Amino acid sequence: MPDAAAPNTTRLNGRVAFITGGASGLGLASARRLLADGAQVVLADVNASALTAAQAELAASFGAERVRTAAIDVGEPASVTEAVDRAASDGGGLHILVNSAGISYQGSVLDNPFDAWQRVLRVNLTGSYLVTQAVARHMVARRYGRIVLMASISGQQVWSGRVAYSSSKAGVVGLMKSCAIDLAPHGITVNAVSPGPIATPQTAALHNEVVRAAVVNATPMARYGAPDEVADVVAFLASDDARFVTGHELIVDGGLTSAAILYDLARNPQPR
Ligand SMILES: NC(=O)c1ccc[n+]([C@@H]2O[C@H](COP(=O)([O-])OP(=O)(O)OC[C@H]3O[C@@H](n4cnc5c(N)ncnc54)[C@H](O)[C@@H]3O)[C@@H](O)[C@H]2O)c1
Repeated sequence: MPDAAAPNTTRLNGRVAFITGGASGLGLASARRLLADGAQVVLADVNASALTAAQAELAASFGAERVRTAAIDVGEPASVTEAVDRAASDGGGLHILVNSAGISYQGSVLDNPFDAWQRVLRVNLTGSYLVTQAVARHMVARRYGRIVLMASISGQQVWSGRVAYSSSKAGVVGLMKSCAIDLAPHGITVNAVSPGPIATPQTAALHNEVVRAAVVNATPMARYGAPDEVADVVAFLASDDARFVTGHELIVDGGLTSAAILYDLARNPQPR
């Protein structure tokens, strides 16, 4: 595993970041990196006990005054408005949004239950829409904002049996582009990060040994990504280093989606 990038400890000074799914995985890693760059964070999550644990962990490293929490269900409009409005009024506005809350479900178009389809779309796509809308309404007032949506390479290259998840993530990319166009005149950038397989609680629960071996074999860098490798990219898009980047999907996958199915003939030479 390569060394983590050295954080720039001042580039986000004075910024407040609202991070959905901030209690776990890529949201928590993003919070850690934004804090290291100087931001304050609001961890927003539906899982109350994970939220408490994440806050305690981050407060120990970065100071309790820089880590707030918000109980939120991103699929519920009233919950979103309440959490976002309170976060904006409690701590000097909102400058950054990272939409990382997400769930997955395995089912093909032939057997995926309707309620599973609705659950996944509700959190991944509708949730991203509702939170982006609520936060953008605050950002417009100060003519500044950085919004990062967590999509997935599954939105463009699909695995079998993931009809709801892949559809939701393709939708997130469309949402991101629409928001980028609508919000550009207001000084707000909107981009998506599309990770390949990353070692988080979500993939630990979903990927068995067969899937793991297939992922490693299909990835030119021959490993899962680490959460901080996604978080470093989120922090770039959340910073003013990316001030002229908007409407962009940035893939973070160790080369997986660039590789053709026979890419590894050099690694495993075939008889001539
Ligand atoms: N881990 C990967 O390999 C990978 C790859 C591509 C994309 N992603 C995407 O990245 C995001 C984060 O994934 P992760 O691996 O960190 O997952 P994770 O399960 O570790 O974290 C997701 C968080 O979202 C929260 N959440 C779920 N439903 C919610 C709701 N209704 N309201 C508020 N919070 C809710 C969970 O409580 C959890 O804390 C997801 O959108 C996921 O689809 C992950």
